[in-house]
Amino acid sequence: QIYSRIIATGSALPERVVTNVDLEKIVDTSDEWIHSRTGIRQRHIAADGETTGDLAFRAAQSALEAAGVKASELDLIVLGTTTPDIIFPSTACLVQHRLGANGCAAFDVNAACSGFVYALGIADKFIRSGQSKKVLVIGAETLTRMVDWSDRQTCVLFGDGAGAVVLEASSEPGIYATCLHADGGFKELLYNPVGVSVGFNDEPNHGVRIHMSGREVFKVAVKTLDSLVGETLEAAGMVESQIDWLIPHQANLRIIEATAKRLNMSMERVIVTVDKHANTSSGSVPLALDYAVRSGKVQRGQNLLLEAFGGGFTWASALLRY
Ligand code: ACO
Repeated sequence: QIYSRIIATGSALPERVVTNVDLEKIVDTSDEWIHSRTGIRQRHIAADGETTGDLAFRAAQSALEAAGVKASELDLIVLGTTTPDIIFPSTACLVQHRLGANGCAAFDVNAACSGFVYALGIADKFIRSGQSKKVLVIGAETLTRMVDWSDRQTCVLFGDGAGAVVLEASSEPGIYATCLHADGGFKELLYNPVGVSVGFNDEPNHGVRIHMSGREVFKVAVKTLDSLVGETLEAAGMVESQIDWLIPHQANLRIIEATAKRLNMSMERVIVTVDKHANTSSGSVPLALDYAVRSGKVQRGQNLLLEAFGGGFTWASALLRY
């Protein structure tokens, strides 16, 4: 049996940090409101001209370096993003060329905040089928480009960033199970109304902005993640107590706490970066994973549960031995 194993992680954040106190100057909000409702204290925001592809490239370089793998050895790049640099070529293709991995398969996955976990699930299937041996999986976003900075209900929630992992075929696990889901019936609760087929308009930022019914999203997220956790454990043939670390999508500390409670896990065993990064969409899980690895919290041989929930709705998980 072939498994896919994460052999190294990497990440990248824009230099500029914007705190809640900074946001108090542009919208009617407070550090107290933002922190008590979400757990967020600050976020990193891309500089003018700094793109999703730039962050993805830096995260990929750091993961490849940590893995000791040359770009030319890669046979697949899968990149989760909902904020690609341009419509085409895909950001995966742009990053592939900058890395010098020309020739391997490369494509983007748009599953909103679940983009990285979806990409990981797809990459796992390529490795298990014998099609690929070494795969780069990236989650990268510049979601703040979509943000309406006069809308206090959404602008306080998001940040920019990227994370990456190098996966390798192995006879040892590895990824035990991945679960991917979507329900497009929930579109109206979280969406950006503008694309190419539905064109740009005369509104500020060409009409590009995040529409979100926060309270509804919150409720569905908690309920859905609760059943996702059960499904993932069953698919992996494991029980709650076998999970060493929960590495959740970083949207809201209260959603994270609800999932930890479902797993009977103390918050000591949950990786939290939402305070520093806010919601970086597809970037959030691999950023949290890289932080967990580089800070020495996550050790080789430990079992990790990765999960995410986002626009679509989409939701996805991976249970793996690091
Ligand atoms: N600062 C101050 N007050 C605010 C702000 C703000 N930034 N935003 C909203 N308010 C006000 C509202 O106007 C409202 O005032 P009112 O009672 O006078 O009408 C009050 O605060 C309460 O607003 P709610 O929206 O009901 O607040 P809630 O407790 O639901 O928290 C939040 C809002 C943080 C958005 C929460 O619902 C949430 O996190 N939902 C999940 C959404 C999410 O995570 N989306 C990201 C993408 S999907 C994902 O990644 C899971």
